[in-house]
Amino acid sequence: MKKIIIINGPNLNLLGKRETNIYGNLTFMEFFDSVVEKYPNVTLEHFQSNIEGELIDKLQEVGFTYDGVILNAAAYTHTSVGIGDAVKAITTPVVEVHISNTFSREKFRHKSFISPNAKGVILGFGLQSYELAIESFISK
Ligand code: DQA
Repeated sequence: MKKIIIINGPNLNLLGKRETNIYGNLTFMEFFDSVVEKYPNVTLEHFQSNIEGELIDKLQEVGFTYDGVILNAAAYTHTSVGIGDAVKAITTPVVEVHISNTFSREKFRHKSFISPNAKGVILGFGLQSYELAIESFISK
């Protein structure tokens, strides 16, 4: 079974209550439970932190053994050289995900320190962005 982890960055623990016009009404755990049910042939894990260093620690921990990382670094996407370097350092492929279309929002969201070292980027499809990322790992 493929082992895939979804790593979520700051404020994504507030999904369901946070700017619901942008991020929707579901909590991440409600969504995650439905996805675990939908993909019984994949081992799916989830980790969330509001702390940059914890996200880097998790990338280092899983990044040499897991089959895939789905990373929504949230606001750190646009600021964190450290997370960008961690994505570069590890051997597990990383798919960068965003719920919203960051290119249709403020200019500071157009920059990503993750994208140059990601296997691919999926954004703008709401929570379905995560599912598309899972599909990208299992469809070959
Ligand atoms: C986000 C987009 C980021 O710009 C923002 O800071 C987030 C969420 C998204 O999933 O759309 O927190 O990564």
